[in-house]
Amino acid sequence: MAGSGTFAEIIDGDVFNYYSNGQWNKSSSGKFVPIINPTSNKIHFKVQACTQEEVNKAIESAKTAQKLWAKTPLWKRAELLHKAAAILKEHKAPIAECLVKEIAKPAKDAVTEVVRSGDLVSYCAEEGVRVLGEGKFLVSDSFPGNERTKYCLTSKIPLGVVLAIPPFNYPVNLAVSKIAPALISGNSIVLKPPTQGAVAALHMVHCFHLAGFPKGLISCVTGKGSEIGDFLTMHPDVNCISFTGGDTGIAISKKSAMIPLQMELGGKDACIVLEDADLDLVAANIVKGGFSYSGQRCTAVKVALVMKSVADTLVKKINDKVAKLTVGPPEDDCDITPVVTESSANFIEELVKDAKEKGATFCQEYKRKGNLIWPLLLDNVGANMRIAREEPFGPVLPVIRINSVEEGILHCNSSNFGLQGCVFTKDINKAMLVSDAMETGTVQINSAPARGPDHFPFQGLKDSGIGSQGITNSINMMTKVKTTIINLPTPSYTMG
Ligand code: G3H
Repeated sequence: MAGSGTFAEIIDGDVFNYYSNGQWNKSSSGKFVPIINPTSNKIHFKVQACTQEEVNKAIESAKTAQKLWAKTPLWKRAELLHKAAAILKEHKAPIAECLVKEIAKPAKDAVTEVVRSGDLVSYCAEEGVRVLGEGKFLVSDSFPGNERTKYCLTSKIPLGVVLAIPPFNYPVNLAVSKIAPALISGNSIVLKPPTQGAVAALHMVHCFHLAGFPKGLISCVTGKGSEIGDFLTMHPDVNCISFTGGDTGIAISKKSAMIPLQMELGGKDACIVLEDADLDLVAANIVKGGFSYSGQRCTAVKVALVMKSVADTLVKKINDKVAKLTVGPPEDDCDITPVVTESSANFIEELVKDAKEKGATFCQEYKRKGNLIWPLLLDNVGANMRIAREEPFGPVLPVIRINSVEEGILHCNSSNFGLQGCVFTKDINKAMLVSDAMETGTVQINSAPARGPDHFPFQGLKDSGIGSQGITNSINMMTKVKTTIINLPTPSYTMG
């Protein structure tokens, strides 16, 4: 049970404590933030509503702890990360249970998220030891008056305090994908978890606490975005922000100044299907890519652009698979579970109504009960429909029938987003041409979009983000290059 056993110290009464300076604390605000279970639409958990002063203290202790941590040997940092990874995996059941209750993640996927996170932390520890243990050596050349008199040594130094803001759909995995590279690189961490997912994140932080990281190095502050959001992102002692979420990221990027940003802000991932594609493979990928976790993934297939000549056959194959999707509570490990909030469900419904009014073909009847929306494939979608461009973040997938591959590419590239895209064809030459033409951070050939494996580079173009993630890229992003230059009085050798 969440908050019991090993985790008993993280709860006080019925409100989960926040974590700062190595301790689990109650907020002086006397207020809490309710966490609504998407299935019952009732309050399931409560977390502390931290004050700005408490956030300030967390940042202050992170700043102090980082100084010593930066001097801690890499192997020691790696050892603690490996320990945290093992503890995290050991506690996969109670953490997964929080994910089921807070964000309605299907039971098995919830366990997978925790295990995947443990693996990510261990991989990061290993990678960090190698990437950070190396520097470069450069010799000056043809710089007026300095021919071979300068020797440059480079190393990577930490940035300081890293602020990590993960989204509701992966409150554990997208938190550790920021925490682990920051820590291995010698930074400290202040984590602001999403409201829904905060309790899972607090449990995850407790695993790091049990691993024995120094006091103050990791903090987790909970509370209302309106009270502590801007305060955190504009804090002068925050040296880097790693954010995953929606439009808020754009606002953060405008307000923050002179600090490195890593952001992933959603997508409208297009799936282009050519005439020679293996349609069984396409159908399997579209259903998995479009409907897993009820479409609440930034990398979900969000529009299928299908060549007219194969559209009838493909739509039938997709519908056969959609009919087999199970719909119900996350506890039963159903494929389709309630979407995260009532307002998300309302937004999805708006897009569905708009498509109906504008003449889309409904392959299934639209059905909703509370936050639970049955999977829906919309065929013959036109560019004038909102669902063609907007991100539903729900189990509704539009199909646009195209006359040419160019038309598909044009539609994909007209989006403000540019996260991932995919193309299905047996012709590798055509696939490479499409990949080259799609304005997205990644193109998958013959598979649905996905962020993982977690050490692959992951980045979005346009409004989909800034910077590149993935373990090595995150380590590089969370460090600065420092150079030391040895100057010789005269050239080290002369010719002739
Ligand atoms: O929702 C955003 C995530 O970065 C997507 O990750 O492809 O592993 O589901 P995923």
